[in-house]
Amino acid sequence: MALRKIATQEDPILRRKARKVEKFDARLAQLLEDMAQTMYEANGVGLAAPQVSMLRRAVVIDTTEDRSGLLELVNPEIIEQDGEQEGPEGCLSVPDVQGFVKRPMHVKVRAQDRNGNWFEAEGEGLLARAFCHELAHLEGQLFTDIMEYEIVPEEEQEEE
Ligand code: NI
Repeated sequence: MALRKIATQEDPILRRKARKVEKFDARLAQLLEDMAQTMYEANGVGLAAPQVSMLRRAVVIDTTEDRSGLLELVNPEIIEQDGEQEGPEGCLSVPDVQGFVKRPMHVKVRAQDRNGNWFEAEGEGLLARAFCHELAHLEGQLFTDIMEYEIVPEEEQEEE
């Protein structure tokens, strides 16, 4: 496994649409493992392949506190969503920015695993938010595109 460099906001690769994964080979497995390691190292709850400069439809997510709930999603798509939640959201590619973002409360996705087998995964709250956030990266979208406002920390407000 190896850490990969996380692309930041200014990098145009984050604005491109990722391509479907067709080959379920050792390179894909390596990419997924590197992405997980990079996400954990950065203390993130999700990472999409374009964030490590790979335009492939692959994401990793782990919203558990003890970091035991790794999900690998290849060619993921949202098949159900309902409800609504509002709250702060951030991104490893947009360091130091938190925005107030509305998302569905409940999301069900369909995806392939690293061997190409289709499965479904379902999430509420933070996991539902992570599904939406990471899948948006595959379309070249960032949370800053849809945030209602930026959440400015209190210390910074006082300085002005
Ligand atoms: Ni992100």
